[in-house]
Amino acid sequence: MNAVIAIIAAYLIGSISFAVVVSRLFGLSDPRTYGSKNPGATNVLRSGNKAAAVLTLLGDGVKGWFAVWLAMVFQEQFELSSNTIAAVGLAVFVGHLWPVFFKFVGGKGVATALGVLLAINIWLGLATLATWLIVAYAFRYSSLAALIASLFAPFYYALLFGPNLTLLAVAIMSGLLIYRHSQNIANLMSGKESRIGSKKK
Ligand code: G3P
Repeated sequence: MNAVIAIIAAYLIGSISFAVVVSRLFGLSDPRTYGSKNPGATNVLRSGNKAAAVLTLLGDGVKGWFAVWLAMVFQEQFELSSNTIAAVGLAVFVGHLWPVFFKFVGGKGVATALGVLLAINIWLGLATLATWLIVAYAFRYSSLAALIASLFAPFYYALLFGPNLTLLAVAIMSGLLIYRHSQNIANLMSGKESRIGSKKK
């Protein structure tokens, strides 16, 4: 029962779309109406408001980290298994993708996945973040950086901990993240993907 409550709580935390909340607070247009129409930090940056984009990134990242961290803090007290912690990580991520508070229209999960990975293990998170930064710096495509970082994340996990159910959760998270980037993949292949920092259309 405790595991079910933890997973539902994580899903609800994940359902808070910081792109929408922060944009409203800043008096900006809804990010679901311009650019890629994705409620995420990259698209909020297309509004031209860097502070709003940074806050979106932090909010979506911290919610991923917080849900897993909270479950870990109460792990012994509520007898949560490590598999439940992995499910909590997946649940907060799924909440971001299909948020109950926003008619199940959510984001692509990059910042939230990073938060989850950082909470699971700091080195796992940092290695994935470093991969994102290197690709983003080299090619200036946020989506490409996310796609490559998400491909590497399960390998980093496997190198650190070997195969277990948390590895499966990380791999599912990567699979869903890649699936949510279908349009970005098509845009990258046709040369239509917008680079980091380009303004909204
Ligand atoms: O954070 C999502 C990013 O990888 C792509 O965002 O708005 O360019 O589709 P966007």
